[in-house]
Amino acid sequence: MNDLDRIADDIRLCHKCPLAQTRICAVPGTGSGKSDIVFIGEAPGAREDREGLPFIGAAGKFLDEMLADIALSRADVFVTNVVKCRPPDNRDPLPEEVRICTEAYLWKQLEVLKPKLLVPLGRHAMHRFLPVTEKISEIHGTPVGITNPLSGEKYVVLPLYHPAAALYNGSMREVLKRDFREIPKMIEKMKYEK
Ligand code: URA
Repeated sequence: MNDLDRIADDIRLCHKCPLAQTRICAVPGTGSGKSDIVFIGEAPGAREDREGLPFIGAAGKFLDEMLADIALSRADVFVTNVVKCRPPDNRDPLPEEVRICTEAYLWKQLEVLKPKLLVPLGRHAMHRFLPVTEKISEIHGTPVGITNPLSGEKYVVLPLYHPAAALYNGSMREVLKRDFREIPKMIEKMKYEK
């Protein structure tokens, strides 16, 4: 069993916060343990909670479509959430739930994955990495550097709109697709920066 699988097992058994009492399944994340790119949503929804997999509803289908548009699939990237268990009635996770979950799991997953690029999906996920004063309408598609507080590793964060927000909004779909097309360009550029 590798380190990522070990963290996933810990997540599935986690009782560090009250979300453990209402979840059906914890959702550690899926995809490649060797990817340069990690997509991070805010928290699992109802379907994800039932099946233990991230982004499997309508928003996930659109995520797959945008990945395909840049010649990637779920198997090429890692997809997870800031908080690994569904908050009841899809409420926002509480600050304490976010703190406990990120300290125990998200930063550790990133330490193992060592991605080049973190892509928070939506303003809630974005604000876990960037100051709350930032507006997603102003900085979507703009790369920002951050440091893993656990390991000191540096990552580039590319905040993007949440696919659910773009599902029924044609112009936002186009913005999101355009932002997505920056991902392979950024990865390519990073290869030459090392
Ligand atoms: N929305 C999210 O932010 N995460 C999921 O896993 C599904 C929908």
